[in-house]
Amino acid sequence: MPSEQTGAPLLDVRDITVSFDGFKAIQNLSLQVWPGDLRVLIGPNGAGKSTLLDTIIGKVRPASGEVQFGGEIISRLPEYLIARRGICRKFQAPGVLESLNVRDNLRLAVRSDKDVFASLSPKIRPQEEARVNELLTLTGLTERQDVQAGQLAHGEKQWLEIGMVVAPRPRLLLLDEPTAGMTAQETAQTAELIRALAGQHAVLVIDHDMHFVELLAAPVTVLHQGQVFREGSLATLRDDPDVMEIYLGRPKEAAD
Ligand SMILES: Nc1ncnc2c1ncn2[C@@H]1O[C@H](COP(=O)(O)OP(=O)(O)O)[C@@H](O)[C@H]1O
Ligand SMILES: [Mg+2]
Repeated sequence: MPSEQTGAPLLDVRDITVSFDGFKAIQNLSLQVWPGDLRVLIGPNGAGKSTLLDTIIGKVRPASGEVQFGGEIISRLPEYLIARRGICRKFQAPGVLESLNVRDNLRLAVRSDKDVFASLSPKIRPQEEARVNELLTLTGLTERQDVQAGQLAHGEKQWLEIGMVVAPRPRLLLLDEPTAGMTAQETAQTAELIRALAGQHAVLVIDHDMHFVELLAAPVTVLHQGQVFREGSLATLRDDPDVMEIYLGRPKEAAD
């Protein structure tokens, strides 16, 4: 279960409802994430998982309820200010610059939170280089640092993007289906990478792939029709007939 439940939560989603033209994609949903937690969000298609992430990052506004981050209400802040508070989301589509090599992509990401003059300066500071090296190690891309991002395998490109997203050390990292389109081996490596990120960052992962979720070995929240349906370990949820019925009973459909 979450590691530091005794302290204040880092992310506190409080009773939010999100409507699209009267349709409630999220209904009275509450969710708490503590610093350094690794948490998984699952649920059938249309359950509201992506909408929840959209609400946390400020792309979508709750009709009622609020989102607190580090004790501050963020659900009325503009998206860029929420990002600046330390919440980063990696989207399904990779955002790497294909013509640059792996190392230069990471350099840009390390400098992205600096002012524009600093990032235009050709001289990179030693501590920035050290951070780039750290990110190369973390993502397992040290040997591939001189390769153009456009030449990377699908999995490698995803790891590069995770490296770029964590470069400014966000306190909360949101990953929506990070293993989509990956081979089994890439999926296993991604689980390892995400486990290495937890502790340093709180990480909230959405994924359909039950094998991947099992490898993450983290508490799972099941969303259904815009509400929290269950929370627990994957093993417990697998034995829950109601969860089986709404979700795990249809693993093939969900995995594709
Ligand atoms: N921008 C939008 N406008 C209208 N309906 C939306 C919008 N975004 C999501 N929805 C609807 O909200 C529900 C939840 O969607 P989503 O959060 O994408 O689910 P999930 O990620 O769990 O598959 C779905 O019924 C979807 O059709
Ligand atoms: Mg989704």
